[in-house]
Order: sequence, then C-alpha cells, then structure tokens
Amino acid sequence: MAPMKILMVAAEYAGLVKTGGLADAVAGLTGALAGAGHDVRVLVPAYAPIGPETAHELGPIGDCRLLEHRNAAGGPRIYRLDAPGLDTGSVYTGDDRDAVRFARLAGAACALGDVLGWRADVFHCHDWHAALAPAMRPPAPTMLTVHNLGYQGVFPASALAGVGDVRAAPEADGNVHFLRTGLRAADRVTTVSPTYAREIRTPEFGMGLDAVLRDRGDDPLGILNGVDYQTWEPSTDPLIDAPYGAEDPSGKATARASLRGDLLPGFDRNAPLVGLVSRLVHQKGVDLLIDALPELLARTRAGFAVLGSGDAVLERALEGLADAHPGRVAFRNGYDEPLAHRIFAGADLFVVPSRYEPCGLTQMYALRYGTIPVVRRTGGLADTVLHFDPASGRGNGSVFEHADPQGLIWALERAIEWFDDAAAWPRLVRNAMRADFSWARQVGAYEEAYRRLIRP
Ligand code: ADP
Ligand code: GLC
Repeated sequence: MAPMKILMVAAEYAGLVKTGGLADAVAGLTGALAGAGHDVRVLVPAYAPIGPETAHELGPIGDCRLLEHRNAAGGPRIYRLDAPGLDTGSVYTGDDRDAVRFARLAGAACALGDVLGWRADVFHCHDWHAALAPAMRPPAPTMLTVHNLGYQGVFPASALAGVGDVRAAPEADGNVHFLRTGLRAADRVTTVSPTYAREIRTPEFGMGLDAVLRDRGDDPLGILNGVDYQTWEPSTDPLIDAPYGAEDPSGKATARASLRGDLLPGFDRNAPLVGLVSRLVHQKGVDLLIDALPELLARTRAGFAVLGSGDAVLERALEGLADAHPGRVAFRNGYDEPLAHRIFAGADLFVVPSRYEPCGLTQMYALRYGTIPVVRRTGGLADTVLHFDPASGRGNGSVFEHADPQGLIWALERAIEWFDDAAAWPRLVRNAMRADFSWARQVGAYEEAYRRLIRP
C-alpha cells in the first residue's frame, strides 16, 4: 500500500504521558503504522514545562508554542503543544482549563501543516480531547476514534470564551459538547472493539450519544486494539523478576514468588493469587470485587493483589479490606508501572469486572503473561476472552454475564477449580500465552479505512 501521511491527535501517548489505555493504544497504533512504512506524526499537549533537552521549538501557533520532542532515532515525530498558562503539571485538570487545553489542541492540529510545511493525508483524532478538530475544517479527511464514551468533554460555553476560532456552537443546554460535535463532524467514526461498536448504538451503552451514532449509518467501525508486544512480553520485559515464555514458562514461578514475597508474605504458596490493575472508577466494576471479597475469602483460598487509584470511596474500601485481611489482600494505592508489570507476571488470575469496556488492554496483557483473565462479557472483553471448557480444552479465561458480585464469584470459582486441576491448568495457560493480539494483525483495518477516506 502506498505510504500515507497520518497525523494522530490525542491527549496521551505511552512513554510520554499516560493515565490509561488511551496512551498505549495511540502509541501502539502509531508504531505499527510507522513500521508499515507510513509517515505518521503525533500531536499531544505539553502538560508541564518542557526543557530544551527534551524538545526544541518549531514556532508559534496562535499564542501557543509548537515543540518537537527529541525522539529516539527511527521513532515517529512527536509534536507537543505548549499553551499559555496550562503548564499545570496535571494531565487532566478536571475543570474548565481542560476545555481550553483541548480546544487549542484541535485548533493547532488544523494549523500544523502551515508551520511544518507537511500536509497530512488524514487526521486521526482520538477521544473527546481531539474531537473538535473535525468540526474545525482541517485540510484533510478526519477519523475520530472513540476509546471511551464515558468521557465526553462537556463544558459551559463560557469556558471557551477566551479561545479564538473554535467551531463548536453551544447546544440547547448552553454547553459545548466536544465528543458529540466530533461524532457529527468526523468523516469516519471508529471504536476500539467490534462488540463495543454494536453496544454503543443502544441506549444502554450509548451514554446519551446512541442516537448520534445510529445516525452515522455503518459507523462506528469497530477495530480491536492491538498489544505492543515490545513492551508487554514476559520473555523480554525488564520490569519483571525473571523472563519466561510459552515454550518455557518456568520463570513465572520466580515472578510469582517474588510478588508474593513483597505483597503478601506468608501467603499459601499453593493458593491462587488474583491480580487487579486498574483506574478505580465505576466503569471498571471494582466495587463488584469489593462486595464479593468477604464471600470469596470465606469460600476459597485465593489471595488478592490490587493496584490502582481513583475514586476515594473505592480506595478507602480497598484499604479497609487489606487492613482486615493482611495475609490475603494487598492494596497499593497509586500509579506504578513496574508494579503493574510484576502483577501481570506474578499473579495466577487477573480480574476485569467492568460494567462496560470499549476494548480493555489489561486482559490481553494478562493473557500474554500466562495469567488467566476473569472478565465480564462486555465490549472488548467479550472479543478477546473465551470461557474455558476443560472437556474440549478450548478457551483462555473465565467469563461472567451479569455485573453483580455473584457473577464475579461464579467466574472466579470456576477459574480456581481449573487452577486446582493438574490437567486443565497447563492447557489453559498455554492457550492464554499463545493468543496473538499484536498490532500487526489490526493495522490493516486502519490502513484500509484511511485509504477509503483519502480516495473514496
Ligand atoms: P483504561 O484505558 O480504561 O484505563 P485499559 O485496560 O485499556 O483501560 O488500559 C489500562 C492501562 O493503564 C494498562 O496499561 C494498565 O496497565 C495501566 N494502568 C491502570 N492503572 C494503573 C496503575 N495504577 N498503575 C500502573 N498502570 C496502570
Ligand atoms: C479507554 C477504554 C479502554 C480501552 C482504551 C484504549 O480508556 O476504557 O477499554 O482499552 O481506551 O483504547
């Protein structure tokens, strides 16, 4: 396929700025497209002051500064937009400054070609943060990818009073709706799994935007995210205690012992350890695990290792459970990449009890590390995890239907039965580790969608 020039516009990019899977997905797709020979460049905000050792200045865009990140040789070109007064140090301020930051990002995306003398063939905008760009008439077709309909970027029109040329009229409620505006204006709308693409056309999952989505005919197109196996691969991961792979999983025992030693010293070495690494928000169903834990602790031998931060009520509940059951429940409150990798490697089971999940990456990471995912059947979880059947030997995880503690308890108890079954467990782990969700398998769907936009 002839090389294309693609501009990615996003709030996050793994390695530079990350709060969740958006960063991994944008960086992974960018890397895969670059690897396929395309000229793909990335525009993200500068959230904190950036020194000359990290980036050099290319010029002004309005009253913002455009910087080029000093990237490792061969990597894609990454531009950072430094907007006046917004070097707050936080990725999301949670107030009206977010509106200003991301309106400026969209405006800068449209003006970038003039500064660089480089014209993108397609603008690929991600989530509400970049969703105003399609409405600001950039000089090329636009794709808008929904990574999470739960975040829509709704602000009082007054929040944008000081921002010049923003083409987003307030709606009847007096608010500017970033995502809704973008969903109407984009030439193509995609989302990050086939099941989520179907779900969000219904009122149950549409979060008030299902009618707008249905109006788009065939859209949204659902393309499953890939995994960047350069980062998430136990045979080469420098953050875990011992390397291992599907052919020789023995290093997993070391990773397992080390994690237990740190988080749950004294915990029964033959009992299964259940990991969870997540933003602690309603979407993720962490409250289902919290509600299920007393019964799970009474009915099974399992231990639990939880890493996450977010909602203070959930954080306190997890702290309380860890205090009450110090030998069985460990909770680390925070964002910790090395520990996340160690949990993927060192746990036996990994829970993702989400109420909704556009794609979900952690279950795919867990699979690669031979850690069996226990997930709710929704969105991308439904597209990647198949309930194991010991009789046929098919399947790679444990899947439950209903977002309630009983559903989660059921699925975890099935997984613990398999863990205790000397014939079933190695088969299940092998199935998990052999699953291939690499970006190389997904990138063709994006290339095809871009090609149709550029030459309809
Ligand atoms: P979401 O984007 O909705 O948060 P994903 O499953 O797509 O969910 O991606 C989550 C990403 O964020 C994964 O890379 C996961 O390892 C990481 N992550 C989430 N919480 C933490 C944490 N507390 N510490 C380190 N990494 C985390
Ligand atoms: C969002 C979703 C998650 C998805 C990620 C990357 O944050 O919550 O399901 O995997 O974006 O697309």
